[in-house]
Amino acid sequence: MSESSGAIGVVGGGTMGIGIAYVFAAAGSTVTIVEPDEPRRSGLRTQIVERAEKSVARGKLTAELAAHVADTLRVVADIDDLDVGLDLVVEAVPEIVDLKHAVLRKIEAREPKLIGSNTSALAIGLLAEALAHPDRFIGMHFFNPVWAMPLLELIAGDHTSDETVSAAQALGAQIEKETILVRDVPGFATSRLGVALGLEAIRMVEDGVASAEDIDRAMVLGYRHPMGPLRLTDLVGIDVRFHIATQLSESLGPRFEPPQLMREMVERGDLGQKTGRGFFDWSEQ
Ligand SMILES: NC(=O)c1ccc[n+]([C@@H]2O[C@H](COP(=O)([O-])OP(=O)(O)OC[C@H]3O[C@@H](n4cnc5c(N)ncnc54)[C@H](O)[C@@H]3O)[C@@H](O)[C@H]2O)c1
Repeated sequence: MSESSGAIGVVGGGTMGIGIAYVFAAAGSTVTIVEPDEPRRSGLRTQIVERAEKSVARGKLTAELAAHVADTLRVVADIDDLDVGLDLVVEAVPEIVDLKHAVLRKIEAREPKLIGSNTSALAIGLLAEALAHPDRFIGMHFFNPVWAMPLLELIAGDHTSDETVSAAQALGAQIEKETILVRDVPGFATSRLGVALGLEAIRMVEDGVASAEDIDRAMVLGYRHPMGPLRLTDLVGIDVRFHIATQLSESLGPRFEPPQLMREMVERGDLGQKTGRGFFDWSEQ
């Protein structure tokens, strides 16, 4: 824990906000989470403190830092309750442009040094339209679960300053994430490459190149991917990836058009793990 650990705000205490708040608090920062929904808000402290205790039990966090998390974490109901002049405020509210614009405007009024957005797919340039100082704004794309995934994808918009990029990289190092820097293009680096591989694997099933099982085994055993592209598509949700592919095809061209087989699976309701059937049978799980 050091002076440089900083004071951080996280807006939205859902799946991602909880993870983002945890990693900063566990790195010694003083964290405040904003969550307007009362039932969610009342459970947040416990969830994050329990996460810290689990990490201590696994030898991944010192008891001193776990005590710091429990002692310093604040949960508030409104962005106006954030201290003025925080080092960073990250928004992790649902992926709705108007909502994010309203939230970003309120965050800017608290005059933080840096504003980050955890958007998965919205253009940083589009979100920046809400801000008077877009130079202090950057995409900070975390991955779920945030405490386990080593990547932080930074997305620099046209107006993001070099100082903002450097500050975000330093914050990434502080929470022990590997950062990559990506220009503000649709799909950033992660979704664009991940979805491209998934779509090609689906076309290979369509063409009868091999079974779904063997296409996945090709990547796992031949390329050391931890999971095959079809199993991953099942886990993410075939409808979710269909939606992303449709959006990417509009901006990046026909190579991202969802294959016919994917379209049919969405229409049938075979959406992957969550419905029990996708490229694989999940009914027993
Ligand atoms: N879930 C993932 O795997 C994942 C991964 C990377 C990025 N993302 C992105 O992260 C963002 C959040 O996703 P999530 O999965 O955590 O969503 P979520 O629905 O779990 O959480 C969103 C939270 O924001 C709160 N909220 C709504 N309006 C608010 C407001 N005006 N002020 C403050 N809080 C408000 C909600 O009450 C909720 O608790 C989205 O942009 C999403 O695309 C999600």
